[in-house]
Amino acid sequence: MQHEVINKVYWVGHVDWNVREFHGYITSRGSTYNSYLILDKEPTLIDSVRAPYAGELLENIEALCPLADIRWVVCNHAEPDHSGALPAIMKACPNAKLVCDAKCRKTLELYYETAEWTFHLVKTGETLSIGERTLEFVETPMAHWPESMATWLPQDRLLFSMDAFGQHYATNERFCDDVPQDILMFEAKTYVANILMLYTLPVSKAVEAVRQLAPLVLAPSHGLIWRGEGVETILSAYDKWDKCTPQRKVLVLYDTMWKSTELMALAIVEGAVEEAKEAVDVKLLRIPLMNRTQVVTEVLDAAAFAVGTPTLNQTMLPTVADVMTYLKGLRPSNKAGFAFGSYGWSRGGPEEVEGILQGMKVDLLRPLLKANFKPSEELLGECREAGRLLVRRALDVASA
Ligand code: FEO
Repeated sequence: MQHEVINKVYWVGHVDWNVREFHGYITSRGSTYNSYLILDKEPTLIDSVRAPYAGELLENIEALCPLADIRWVVCNHAEPDHSGALPAIMKACPNAKLVCDAKCRKTLELYYETAEWTFHLVKTGETLSIGERTLEFVETPMAHWPESMATWLPQDRLLFSMDAFGQHYATNERFCDDVPQDILMFEAKTYVANILMLYTLPVSKAVEAVRQLAPLVLAPSHGLIWRGEGVETILSAYDKWDKCTPQRKVLVLYDTMWKSTELMALAIVEGAVEEAKEAVDVKLLRIPLMNRTQVVTEVLDAAAFAVGTPTLNQTMLPTVADVMTYLKGLRPSNKAGFAFGSYGWSRGGPEEVEGILQGMKVDLLRPLLKANFKPSEELLGECREAGRLLVRRALDVASA
């Protein structure tokens, strides 16, 4: 399957309808691996696909151009969802040189047998003429790996942006204006929360660099291609998401064993709702009814959140541990909150949650709230007050 993106630039990738897990990210709408073919005097492939789909990629290319004519294969990112098919591509395209930066070459050499490949190393600002068109390279370290790079087509004002601006969204459509906007933006936000949240500073820098280019088309390596008004829509959205900018939204995340932690969660929400007076969105989220991908997407733009767990075998519940481990790695910035929960004859669960929040540099609004077996009325009153603290923080820091 091929689609023309603009004149003589084709999408030749793979739609992965069935992928549901992506290094911890639950991809409930599947994904796509976007590979692009530029037909010019020196035909050029931009990125590849996961290894199992190499044959389909080669068929897509061959339908447009003999494989022996491919002169350049640009690798903007060494992660295997984009580089996995390179061994097959480089073997099938004997006249192609692999274009990447020095860090990318090192990673590719560790992943694959590259002795037969001819590399052409590039840096930010360097260009490569492929005929009527010129490629210009922009290194974007840590958006998403150290070797991440974008490739700019100045004549068309088209940026192959790699992971940035992507979405895990399988569809037969290729352009942002051909799909429901609410789903598109939801998946774009979910993608930022689950892939890029740890890298707020480098991603912000990359977005600023993209703005300077004033692109007409943003062609990411997953999901739909942004064009027309969609370009400004996604750039503006990134201005908020890539800094985890707090909105008027607070979360109470919890799981429970024998309802003690749940009683505390409900009291925290009660206090929060009373304080919010509808000016702040207050959400109670029971962790096992969601998945970790949904939870971190909610956290992305929350101003403050509380996390509660009972104690099981001197630690937190496995459901809470799953989410906290994932969240710890993504380390959302600009957040405040606190931990709460219960214990019986041994302590451990709520203390562990608080330790993780501290490690994530969450601004702790109050000391740990703990119930021994069952919360007393006095403790539930403290929980209600704690809920008010979440809302006050949201009103203080959030944009409207
Ligand atoms: Fe889609 Fe960082 O790979």
